[in-house]
Amino acid sequence: MPVLRVLPDAGAVARAAADLVVAAVRAGSTSLGVATGSSPQGTYAELARRVATGRLSLAGCRAYLLDEYVGLPPEHPQTYRRVIRRELVDRTDLDPEDVHGPDGGAADLAQEAARYEEEVSAASIGVQLLGIGSNGHIGFNEPGSPLDAVTRVVELTERTRSDNARFFASGDEVPRHVLTQGPATILRAERLVLLAIGERKADALAAALTGPVTPDCPASVLQRHPDVHVLADRTAAAGLPVSLGT
Ligand code: F6R
Repeated sequence: MPVLRVLPDAGAVARAAADLVVAAVRAGSTSLGVATGSSPQGTYAELARRVATGRLSLAGCRAYLLDEYVGLPPEHPQTYRRVIRRELVDRTDLDPEDVHGPDGGAADLAQEAARYEEEVSAASIGVQLLGIGSNGHIGFNEPGSPLDAVTRVVELTERTRSDNARFFASGDEVPRHVLTQGPATILRAERLVLLAIGERKADALAAALTGPVTPDCPASVLQRHPDVHVLADRTAAAGLPVSLGT
């Protein structure tokens, strides 16, 4: 069962997540699984602070993206490769050459998915950061995704496209497809750290942790992993029984 920590605010979530990344790096892990979106932004800022103050070095580590939009030009600021470059790599001592992800501009997307699946499997991810969609997705495994799926092309739901429209000039600009690690890919990481911030996540988080393991809520697959830390702020944890948290 996942370890759930209910924390007072987003800053506390970020510090607790950074502590888990630091612990993995100190334990010798060099492959870090990175998510994008709002949830990990504070964690990346906190990791950057620790590197700047000499408390942490990520030199020699490699970052592996969870997912990538299909069809955005490589120079678009919202490709996840660029987001990670901006939010994590440029602010730490990670080498830009050490960022790995699926190529959303590949001519043969199925082949690219298979290539990335193999790359991630070979990497042995020590700690994988995850956010949760308001519809219960992890990575971009939308509701209905088979829980044994691996890296592949997924069509985003309209709900996810509208949730992500805030990152684009207009809702129409949000790509319709992504390449995403599958639930089975994600579950291979040694440790999973799920970040949930804000009341918009409360229903999905409650379903993921207290409901059945079902493709209707892909994040529920986390119940099958032996080492999961869920870091939630009070508002995201609002739907959970008090007895679950620490
Ligand atoms: C992003 C990803 C998604 C997000 C989720 C939550 O790489 O895989 O699963 O983590 O959509 O997004 P935010 O954090 O923006 O609410």
